[in-house]
Amino acid sequence: RKLFASEVNFVKGVVNMKGLPPADRPEIAFAGRSNVGKSSLINALFNRKQLARASGQPGRTQEINFFSILEDLFVVDLPGYGYAVAPKAVVDKWTAFTQTYLRGRTNLQRVFLLIDSRRGVTDVDKGIMKTLDRAAMNYQIVLTKADKLKKSELDDVMEGAVQAIKKHPAAHPRIMMTSSEKGMGLPELKAEIVALI
Ligand code: GTP
Ligand code: MG
Repeated sequence: RKLFASEVNFVKGVVNMKGLPPADRPEIAFAGRSNVGKSSLINALFNRKQLARASGQPGRTQEINFFSILEDLFVVDLPGYGYAVAPKAVVDKWTAFTQTYLRGRTNLQRVFLLIDSRRGVTDVDKGIMKTLDRAAMNYQIVLTKADKLKKSELDDVMEGAVQAIKKHPAAHPRIMMTSSEKGMGLPELKAEIVALI
């Protein structure tokens, strides 16, 4: 069946563990700083313009959004982190729920941890990587917005990411480089997803 072409549906936005859909199929999740391009990447991968809200406003996605691909896969758009303007209590609540989700979700196959190519791996990303290591959750770095940089700059960013994952046992050794806007790296990322299910 065609995973990336048909019947992609929004399931629900979830704000606590009770709201999670049944863990009855493989699941992948997209994590990263606010504005890193999570929603855009999900839209580009699954060929849907309006599937996941994408906006220039950081912190817009405030819940864990579930999408289903046929009956074969759940795709999860996690709330962005590192958005300082949201009230601290709200940020802490997102973080607590997201961490509980990451630790407890039995059908979650891999987290794709998105890193903005222009920023590289920041301290807040490294904190999230530690959380994922502690949860023994497999994760894979996906560099985003590669269309914004020159080839030589991309090489530096890739090298920085290679160095950054060295101390992180749960990180996948292969780092992906993508542009949702230009379609770069999307076939490779799709192949990673297909291999998980
Ligand atoms: P939150 O939901 O707030 O956490 O953000 P997000 O990670 O879902 O980011 P979103 O997909 O909303 O994208 C944020 C901004 O980056 C938007 O203005 C997008 O148009 C832009 N953007 C996303 N992907 C790309 C890309 O591949 N290239 C370029 N040039 N811009 C991109
Ligand atoms: Mg979003």
